[in-house]
Amino acid sequence: MRYYNRTTGCGLINQSFLNKSVTLAGWVQRRRDHGGLIFIDLRDRSGLVQLVFNPAFSKDAHTQAHSLRSEFVISITGTVVDRSAQTINSELPTGNWEIQITELTILNKAKPLPFSIEESDIDEELRLKYRYLDLRRPIMQRHLGLRNDILFAMREFFHQEGFYDLETPILTKDTPEGARGFLVPSRVKAGSFYALAQSPQLYKQLLMASGLERYYQIARCFRDEDLRADRQPEFTQLDVEMSFIDESNIQSVIEGMLKHTLKKVLGIELNLPIKRMTYDEAFSNYGSDKPDLRFELKVHDITSLFAQTQLSFLKAVLEQQGKIGCLYLHDTQFTRSELEGWVAKAQLLGAKGMLWIKVGENNILESPVAKFLPPTFFDELKVTFPSLQKGDTFFIIAGAYESAWELLGRLRNQVAKELGIIPEGQLNFVWITDFPMFEFNEETKQWVAKHHPFTAPQAGWENKTPGTIKARAYDIVLNGVELGGGSIRIHDPERQAKVFEMLGMTTEQAQNKFGFLLEAQELGFPPHGGLAIGIDRFIMLLANTTSIREVIAFPKTARGHDPLMDAPTPVEEKRLREYHLRYLPTKQS
Ligand code: AMO
Repeated sequence: MRYYNRTTGCGLINQSFLNKSVTLAGWVQRRRDHGGLIFIDLRDRSGLVQLVFNPAFSKDAHTQAHSLRSEFVISITGTVVDRSAQTINSELPTGNWEIQITELTILNKAKPLPFSIEESDIDEELRLKYRYLDLRRPIMQRHLGLRNDILFAMREFFHQEGFYDLETPILTKDTPEGARGFLVPSRVKAGSFYALAQSPQLYKQLLMASGLERYYQIARCFRDEDLRADRQPEFTQLDVEMSFIDESNIQSVIEGMLKHTLKKVLGIELNLPIKRMTYDEAFSNYGSDKPDLRFELKVHDITSLFAQTQLSFLKAVLEQQGKIGCLYLHDTQFTRSELEGWVAKAQLLGAKGMLWIKVGENNILESPVAKFLPPTFFDELKVTFPSLQKGDTFFIIAGAYESAWELLGRLRNQVAKELGIIPEGQLNFVWITDFPMFEFNEETKQWVAKHHPFTAPQAGWENKTPGTIKARAYDIVLNGVELGGGSIRIHDPERQAKVFEMLGMTTEQAQNKFGFLLEAQELGFPPHGGLAIGIDRFIMLLANTTSIREVIAFPKTARGHDPLMDAPTPVEEKRLREYHLRYLPTKQS
């Protein structure tokens, strides 16, 4: 049929088409009736072009054009002509030309839309319910275009580097890997369940046992966790695994991929190597294992300045081996009410309280606890902060090291945002290395793997207590967002069994859950390691948006709901019976 023979894209009309006949197809963005002439902005993926319906060129097309409305789908044939000097639109790439229409075919009509494609401030629930309309908006088309280009460049890089692109199962076994997994009941094996893969972790390790040596996959992952702006129940990873390598090998492959991808897609020159920082350094200086290094603003330990304090709440913290940390905010000139506002913001971030000290006139310290500070306090502060002057402020949080520093880290990000000290347009990468192997879960009173239970501990771990063992694990962070994480894996069964034991698993439980892995480790398993990068987060940062929902074609809401298809939904009892299941309503429902 004629309308499938499109000459080019609407947004691609240029001088080379002048005075030529073209056939285009797309959506009516706008219609303007100017007496005898009708103007249409026609849109397809490539952009917009102006059509002119003039009865002098086609009476039929002009008559039909009266019925066109926004979002009708049409195909046209016409001649590309120059616009008159007064009507040139310099903001539109095709704004020098218009198309005089000789033929029009209406392919599909459209009722008035729930929102206009040209709007920008649309309720998110509505956007997701009509996602196919939302995706017509140019900004969303750009995001998905960027996603396509990034994925293609990644694939190109890994293919050139000799990696195999291999798919791994999505229906797999329910194993404790860190996050909560989704369960899928089996119809054929009553009472048994698959789990949706949280990541291809175990399969990619087994591919190393198979001798595939270099694997990558753009993999879908499924996790039943609390959702946030940068978390979805299903998301995409660039998943990588390599044999016979150490940390530096895998990191330099990832750096090479980032360099190739950023250059190819965005023309950005990434300077290598990316800087490295240990977990301890990151946490003590920035209160986070994903520090945003686009701005300096460090967390300072000022515990020693309060060694003789008379303030009972600080004394109590010190008696329990706690720490006192602060952000030093130079020349902020906060007013008293702004400072009270910051106390409230710190509380919203989870702090019980926040103490502030401000340098006032004549270096007199102002603070809710000013009268309890020794007269020498300004001079003592000045030793640590030599640039101290009037208008400077300290935000102080005291408590157990981990929790106090974590709060200071969050406060650091918020302060930076509100003070406007985060430079725009920067991509600031950092590798965070030497993570702790385990962290203590206060609820279950058990050690859990900080990365996952297949991560290798660093040398000398046998003689250390769980809290002090470091892992051969690394994360890559971009602008304060954890972009990816990985590790060198355990490849021998003794070490693996010992780690399972430290995680509180009995030998039977370990066999039951991971017997296949322990067995594979006895059948010739090469040393190996890898990493996975969150694709959605990467594209989100490159597209300069603040939610991964903006770069995923069909995401769920923050509550895990798909308003478009309306999922999840209850199913008929008959369906449940097929799966040997019965629904037990909780008391509240
Ligand atoms: P990890 O669990 O750290 O490692 O995940 C790797 C990266 O995946 C992204 N990510 C998410 N993105 C969106 N929504 C989510 N719910 C979500 N969860 C994680 C993050 C994260 O850094 N198998 C290991 C990798 C390895 O060891 O090789 C793994 O999955 O960007």
